[in-house]
Amino acid sequence: MPETAKITLHPELEIAEIDPRVYGSFVEHLGRGVYEGIYEPDHPTADEEGFRGDVLALIKELGLTIIRYPGGNFVSGYNWEDGVGPIEERPRKLELAFRAIETNHFGLNEFMSWCKKADTQPMYAVNLGTRGIDAARNVVEYCNHPGGTYWSDLRISHGVKEPHRIKTWCLGNEMDGPWQIGHKTAEEYGRLAQETAKVMRQVDKDLELVVCGSSGAGMPTYPEWEATVLDHTYEEIDYVSLHSYFGHEKGQTKNFLAKSITMDNMIKTVLAICDYTKAKKRSKKTINLSFDEWNVWFSDRANKIPWSIAPAWGEQMYTLVDAVVSGSLMITLIKHSDRVTIACQSELLNVIAPIMTLKGGISWRQTIYYPLLHASVYGRGRALNLNIESPVYHDNEFDAVPYIDGVATVDDENATLTIFAVNRSLEEAITLEGDARDYADYVVLEHIVLTAEDIMSGNTADHPDNVVPQSIGQASLTDGKLSAILPRTSWNVIRLKKKKI
Ligand code: AHR
Repeated sequence: MPETAKITLHPELEIAEIDPRVYGSFVEHLGRGVYEGIYEPDHPTADEEGFRGDVLALIKELGLTIIRYPGGNFVSGYNWEDGVGPIEERPRKLELAFRAIETNHFGLNEFMSWCKKADTQPMYAVNLGTRGIDAARNVVEYCNHPGGTYWSDLRISHGVKEPHRIKTWCLGNEMDGPWQIGHKTAEEYGRLAQETAKVMRQVDKDLELVVCGSSGAGMPTYPEWEATVLDHTYEEIDYVSLHSYFGHEKGQTKNFLAKSITMDNMIKTVLAICDYTKAKKRSKKTINLSFDEWNVWFSDRANKIPWSIAPAWGEQMYTLVDAVVSGSLMITLIKHSDRVTIACQSELLNVIAPIMTLKGGISWRQTIYYPLLHASVYGRGRALNLNIESPVYHDNEFDAVPYIDGVATVDDENATLTIFAVNRSLEEAITLEGDARDYADYVVLEHIVLTAEDIMSGNTADHPDNVVPQSIGQASLTDGKLSAILPRTSWNVIRLKKKKI
């Protein structure tokens, strides 16, 4: 196997300005995501609203820009009115999507207050499973209308004087999935989404609306679903939603490491359908993508437990190899920053999540926390393609898989350039050689590496810092030539800054 990969850093390889909202996440009323995750009034770090302070500190460290809420499958059976008003009067109900008892102690206004404290913006989903146009228009009026009407005055009576002004809204969730409460055909959903969008905009014309695409590229209705739904909704909506989770099959690690190729193909396919519909409708409008559920996921999805409040669900320890895959998924999203302008790693806390918590105890960062953190903190500005020439390996699903994948970001405001790269090799370190003559006036600040002796190791409550990034890489830039060694199975962040003259 050749041990060198080549990249070119050139301003003309610019892709687009990155929308910061690609560094988003997702909070759902599922498992211990909300209760014992962000909301735990008895926790020693809880504030006056019951929000865990240790968790808020981690969310701020991540610099998340947008958070989708309240579901997920949960939203398709949810009455938003159950989660507003005096907490002690809120109904306790059976939550059918994931089989739990929902206390409704945390709802819309708590989420909005939490978003402010977390310094992030909301993306709110309406229920198009058991409900429809009426509940959707009411929740927009409750949230965004200043006052003087039934719903806006109800909000004010709940202690929220100023409207929330929520801008970004999802029209349901995964409506193509037979598991979804109120699952629909593409025709049924397309019509409902179109009418719901129209009416929501009549309440507030400034909304940004996201229509459901397929819940995965493996769905039998994919991508016909997108074509039909867009045919109905094209002029009413702004984004199509994409969802994808990638699992690590036993003995299939090399294939797992290549899964970002599936994400890349899905993005290209859905974009082609958007642009075909644009042409068909002679429209002037361009629809972008909201990849609002993406992650690595391998735990048992079945839920056979007795009815209880916030039963643990989807709790898994992420490994180093999961972090490398997660990093390559992040790279893929940045490479599509011209059209993917919202993305949410799914989910945020305890449920297939980068952050774990113990009830009454500590919170810690999983391995997959770090690629999201680095991209969110260092990946601002414009995205640059690297024109990578990498050695490849053979895989039955993907044919030739490049060992090295990566992308760069240029931030003029801070005069920085950052290279994000993964080495998918399970055996060998690979040297990265870069033609960086157009950035010869930059210096390497640091080369962060996330790797581990045991690629299946991760972080636990007892060993929360078992796998952490270290500033140990030896990247250099001399006379416009970049050189770096990317250890086997690693996530790398090479940070450069323009020299002061
Ligand atoms: O994130 C867990 C679930 O996965 C979400 O509720 C659903 O949208 C997806 O199928």
